[in-house]
This record gives sequence, C-alpha cells and structure tokens, in this order.
Amino acid sequence: MKKILALIVCVLLVVASMSALAEGQKVGVSMPTKDLQRWNQDGANMEAMLKEAGYEVELQYAANDVQQQLSQVETMIDNGCEVLVIAAIEGSSLGSALEKAAEKGIPVIAYDRLLMQSDAVSYYATFDNYMVGTVQGTYVKETLDLDNAEGPFNIEFTAGDPGDNNAGFFFNGAMDVLKPYIESGKLNVVSGQTEFTDVATPTWKTEVAQSRAENILSSYYADGTELDAWVCSNDSTALGVTNALEANYTGKWPIITGQDCDIQNTKNMIAGKQSMSVFKDTRTLAAQVVKMVGQILSGEEVDVNDTTTYDNGVKVVPSFLCEPVFASADNYKELLIDSGYYTEDQLQ
Ligand code: BGC
Repeated sequence: MKKILALIVCVLLVVASMSALAEGQKVGVSMPTKDLQRWNQDGANMEAMLKEAGYEVELQYAANDVQQQLSQVETMIDNGCEVLVIAAIEGSSLGSALEKAAEKGIPVIAYDRLLMQSDAVSYYATFDNYMVGTVQGTYVKETLDLDNAEGPFNIEFTAGDPGDNNAGFFFNGAMDVLKPYIESGKLNVVSGQTEFTDVATPTWKTEVAQSRAENILSSYYADGTELDAWVCSNDSTALGVTNALEANYTGKWPIITGQDCDIQNTKNMIAGKQSMSVFKDTRTLAAQVVKMVGQILSGEEVDVNDTTTYDNGVKVVPSFLCEPVFASADNYKELLIDSGYYTEDQLQ
C-alpha cells in the first residue's frame, strides 16, 4: 500500500512539474512569409523550442498578405492561444487583431519587427537593428579606407520595406556612418538617391531591388562609370543588386553588403560576389522569445535590455535586443558551419 501511495505521489509530482513547465498552454506564432529563407528558420526554431518547453504551438505563415496575417492571428485568438508571437508583414496593419488580443488579455510579443500604432504590444524581441546598419556602414568605411584614401568613391544604396519598422533602423545605421563622407564629397552617390524613400524596396523583394538596380546601372553607369560600393540592407535585396550587376555592369566589382547569411548569399560571399553579411542567429532570437513566453505565463519578470529605443507611435515597447554579428567569406565557417547553422553541403 505504501509503495502504491509513493508511486502515486511520484506520478503526481512529475505531472505537476510538467504542467509547471508549460501547463499545455498554447502559443500562436505568426510569420510573414515562407518566401524568404530566414522566416522559415525562425518559424521552425520557434515551433521546435516551444514544443520542447511543453507548449502547444499554432504556427502560421501569411504569404506576405496582410489580410491573411490578420485573419490568421484572429483565428489563433479564437483557438485559445494564450500568448501571441508575431513577425508582422506590415507593422501598422494588425490593429483589429491586436485589439481583440488586448480585450481577451492575451499578451503579444513582437518578433523581430515591431508592431506599430498599438498599445496591445507587450514586448519586443529582435536583433539590434541599428547596429546591423552600422556594421554594414563601418565595413564600407574601413574597406574603402575612407579616412585615408583620396577617393572620391562611387556608391549606391538599397534599403528595405517602408512598412517594416526595421528597415529605417538598418538604413539610418549605415547612413550615420557614411553620411559625413557623402557630405565631404569622398563618397559620391552617382544616382543622387540618398533618401530612404528613394532607395526603399517594398516587401523586400529581390526582383524589385533588381529592377531598381538595373535602372540605376543603365541611367548612370552605362558610360563606364565605376561603382565602388552598393550598400544593401539585407540579403534578398543584395541578391537583386548582384543579379543586376552581373547582367548589366562590366566594371570593377563593387563592395556589396547584406544581412541574414541566407544560403544563396553565403554562396555568393564564398564566390567573392557579395562582400559581407550580418549574421542574426535565428536560434538565439527564438530561444529568447521562448524564455519571454515562459516568463510572461508564469508571471515572472520578463528579461529586457532596452526600454528606450522602440517607440511604436503609442508606447515605448520594452525590448530585448540580441547582438548581430559581422559575417564574411573569412569567418563563415566558424559562424555558420561549426555552429551547426548550415551543413557544408548546403553551401556547395
Ligand atoms: C528582418 C531582416 C530581413 C528582412 C526581410 C527584416 O525585418 O529583420 O532580417 O532580411 O526583414 O525579410
């Protein structure tokens, strides 16, 4: 009898500790699209890590369609998700779903991209977006040795989606490093396009970046003018610029920046076509968000490390910023292969 009692107590303890872990709670994860490699990784990592921590997961991708994301998030609420993790397609377009979450007292974590114009956003987890831009700008500054070389050097810019709050941070980070050299004339933006609105790429699409680059090349570089650097905010846009250059430009190959270490771009770095990227290990971000989910659901204090930067128009959202890392052909093995992010085969 004693043994049976002890067994029952043991089973109860195990069950209690499991439910303390996650109580079978359901977490909704809304990702923008499957078109870009990184979001597939983000979604897969989040799902695996949340499940490992004992949560049920409802993971949806919205095919870069704002209406689709809106209805997916509403369905997650109807399906009983207790926390929502959202990487928005368009930061300001999820208002009604966020209101619904707020009415039901469901906390919302903005994942990677800030949710704008809403007080229903509880926390934000991302990489230091401004730092991504400064890493790109600093790479150009150092590689061209702007403080010492005579110049002038020709440069162009390609930024991201105006609907993505991150895009301005990336662009401003790079511009803040390079602007003094543009003003002094050491850097010459031959197209004259230096404003974010001129250089933005709606939906971050490779094809859109490519056709703008083709236009710039045919209008300003077809006479043999040489290009020294093309600052691209991320890898999908860098790919478009690289494609345009390969087809339409025969001069000295310029510096091309990027971000994400997507597979095709990493191959391009190895082949000498893209100069650098910024590695944002999606495993780190997913782990941080899983931790946040746990802290929120158990009523603990939530880890944040920035309470001033990310104003969404209604409130400053408490944020956790992970650190982005410079990547190039020189350190990709250590960063991407040794860490198990990619296999060697994937980069062949
Ligand atoms: C992300 C980048 C990504 C871009 C396009 C941004 O919000 O931070 O890592 O390259 O979206 O998907």
